[in-house]
Amino acid sequence: MMRQLLMLLAALTLHAEAATFDTATVERGRYLATASDCMACHTARHGKAMAGGLVLASPVGDIVSTNITPSKQYGIGNYSEQQFSDAVRKGVRADGQNLYPAMPYTAYAVMTDDDIRAMYAYFMQEVKPVEQGSKPTDLPFPMSVRASMKVWNAMFLDHKPLTPAPQRPAQWLRGRYLADGAAHCSTCHTPRGLLMQEKKELYLTGSQVGPWYAPNITSHPTSGIGSWSEAELVQYLRTGRVEGKAQAAGSMAEAISYSFSRLSDEDLKAIAVYIKDLPPMAGDEPVSRFNQGQAGNALPSLRGKSYQENAKGPHLGAQVFSANCASCHGFNGQGTADGYYPSLFHNSATMNNSNLLATILYGVERETRHGHVFMPPFGDQVNAVNHLSNDEIAALANYIQVSYGSGAPGVKAEDVAVIRQGGPQSHLLLLARLGMVAGLLVLSALIIVVLRRRAKQQGK
Ligand code: HEC
Ligand code: HEC
Ligand code: HEC
Repeated sequence: MMRQLLMLLAALTLHAEAATFDTATVERGRYLATASDCMACHTARHGKAMAGGLVLASPVGDIVSTNITPSKQYGIGNYSEQQFSDAVRKGVRADGQNLYPAMPYTAYAVMTDDDIRAMYAYFMQEVKPVEQGSKPTDLPFPMSVRASMKVWNAMFLDHKPLTPAPQRPAQWLRGRYLADGAAHCSTCHTPRGLLMQEKKELYLTGSQVGPWYAPNITSHPTSGIGSWSEAELVQYLRTGRVEGKAQAAGSMAEAISYSFSRLSDEDLKAIAVYIKDLPPMAGDEPVSRFNQGQAGNALPSLRGKSYQENAKGPHLGAQVFSANCASCHGFNGQGTADGYYPSLFHNSATMNNSNLLATILYGVERETRHGHVFMPPFGDQVNAVNHLSNDEIAALANYIQVSYGSGAPGVKAEDVAVIRQGGPQSHLLLLARLGMVAGLLVLSALIIVVLRRRAKQQGK
């Protein structure tokens, strides 16, 4: 009886404590959680908001995002502000165990105490508790040893706040704070090294993210987005499209739908100011991906023959195009005047084989205040309009490259197979996005080697 009373009292005090955050703090926390895209990973498809259960596939097993609603039993209802801060910025959860870096704490590490506090206030006071657990992450040994992440953190997690830059205007500083922290641009756009750490010296110069390629966004005129105006970058982050240049699909479409499109104009502007100011860094791109190709129509070469006849000859690509793509993008690849169906020339996605193939296999989906954008997938999905084979897609991609893109046919059926499996890091898929799996494997192997050596030496 006494114990129950005490528990009740404790619960009441906790509640009273939780309720002390004012509305302004809670609302700021909501905004920061949106800017950080917590929702994208912590909500399962068709699941309850923030209740976890999204499965991030990895070659060694599934990593499952957890319930971060304030449920005391299943979520983070018992987290203190300090514990919340440690989870978000250091990758250490309440029981002291390390999180896998599928949770982007390396980026969130730069967030200020004040902002972390506001997010805590939002989660505790505003997010609805969901009383439901998710399948636990159960990786096989040695991946199950979460402590191996301590070594990785010691090597790659930077706890220091951003380098002071007092000579910079406030807008630039705000942009850097958002881009490097909450919005975590570099987790996708910066290439990764052997241990899956971000290569700081190649900051934002482009990286493969599962089946998609997140391009160079430094200000280099041909490799990067040097030809974009600040206003165009703001428009891209807000709507996912800049006519005659680029559209957002894949993980960029997700980030725009759930996060960037909901940021204030000032913050988008700040991000654009900062990104546009990055020093130009060259990549392998000899020409700008935004101004290649031209309208062209292969229809005359197909006339008078059946689909089957054309499909056997050199016109397979043109045939697949006219049967599956021309209805929306036009027989000459020009798209529609209103830009809803984009032109395939002067298009960033056309120039990158990975993104061209991923678009065909996975389609495009984006939802912002500016409407719902949808291109159907042609891959293995049950709802695919048409299941195109690797040979058909390779021929189609080469037709598009020659007619509307680089001019060079370079796609083989094997390349299509790779993107169909989820990208060059193959089965890594989503985890590859922030994936440390390869790193974990190598590290675990190293640790085991070290431990064995030690054991041997001690045995002597
Ligand atoms: C890119 C995906 C991703 C994003 C974005 C993300 N998380 Fe996570 N988070 C995860 C995964 C996966 C785990 C579980 C990792 C594990 O089990 O090691 C996790 C774990 C956590 C935990 C530990 C909970 C527990 O006790 O198990 C907290 C707290 C958390 N996330 C909060 C947040 C907050 C707050 C945000 C936004 C600021 C956020 N996460 C954004 C993927 C993500
Ligand atoms: C979750 C991964 C992810 C995050 C986070 C992310 N991006 Fe992207 N981004 C991509 C991918 C993938 C593409 C290619 C999309 C396509 O072509 O359809 C892309 C494309 C772009 C493009 C268009 C480039 C071109 O040549 O077409 C710009 C600009 C861009 N991102 C800027 C940003 C900025 C700025 C941030 C941070 C505020 C950011 N991205 C965060 C994955 C990401
Ligand atoms: C039902 C209409 C429709 C069909 C059919 C269609 N598309 Fe699209 N396509 C779209 C829409 C809508 C977009 C996205 C526009 C946006 O993002 O603003 C798009 C975007 C694209 C992009 C740019 C993607 C990016 O990431 O930037 C490419 C490339 C493309 N389509 C190629 C194709 C090819 C090849 C085919 C035939 C296999 C095809 N489309 C069939 C409607 C269609």
